[in-house]
Amino acid sequence: MGHSAVYPGTFDPLTIGHFDLIQRAAGIFDRLVVAVAVHSRKRTAFTIEERVEMTRQAVRDFTNVEVAPFDRLLVDFVRMRRIHVVVRGLRAFSDFEYEFQMALTNRKLAPEIETLFLMPKESYSYISSSAVRELAEFGGDARGFVPKAVLPFLRRKFGGGDDH
Ligand code: COA
Repeated sequence: MGHSAVYPGTFDPLTIGHFDLIQRAAGIFDRLVVAVAVHSRKRTAFTIEERVEMTRQAVRDFTNVEVAPFDRLLVDFVRMRRIHVVVRGLRAFSDFEYEFQMALTNRKLAPEIETLFLMPKESYSYISSSAVRELAEFGGDARGFVPKAVLPFLRRKFGGGDDH
């Protein structure tokens, strides 16, 4: 069956930082499941269907990447898939406390699951979904912040220029 991992997130929207991480993880693992959280602590701008669809379109060239929504505890989803590794990104020191808390909570719930941290390309380390949403809301150009496949989703949600 090979080695598999789950990369979970809200992806509201998927950014090039997320995409960079998917690319790295897909190069390490035989199979990667990008798990899109139906319910997040945050109120999302995009529906779960939109977040799954934009992610699917962005990763369609990877033969070993699957995109699936999840609506339960992350560890339950990972167990259900018989996977033992969760991948998360660490962009900067400021991510650490939140990630540390989440990884240790998940470890307490499911000691057999390891969280593995990867660093996105340093030039993407300042990019966040909320900054992209704000930029799009005010009519800014999101090219260079999200994969090309995500641009039409931003335009439909917030309006703005073409995708070229
Ligand atoms: N590139 C760009 N941005 C990144 C990034 C990267 N590589 N890694 C993280 N981010 C940013 C996102 O843009 C987002 O920014 P924002 O807060 O400004 O919008 C933020 O970091 C985190 O978003 P995301 O990467 O989508 O993940 P998340 O933190 O929203 O995901 C879940 C959290 C869904 C994994 C977590 O809440 C979960 O597991 N929920 C299920 C319930 C559960 O099991 N709870 C117990 C666990 S403690």
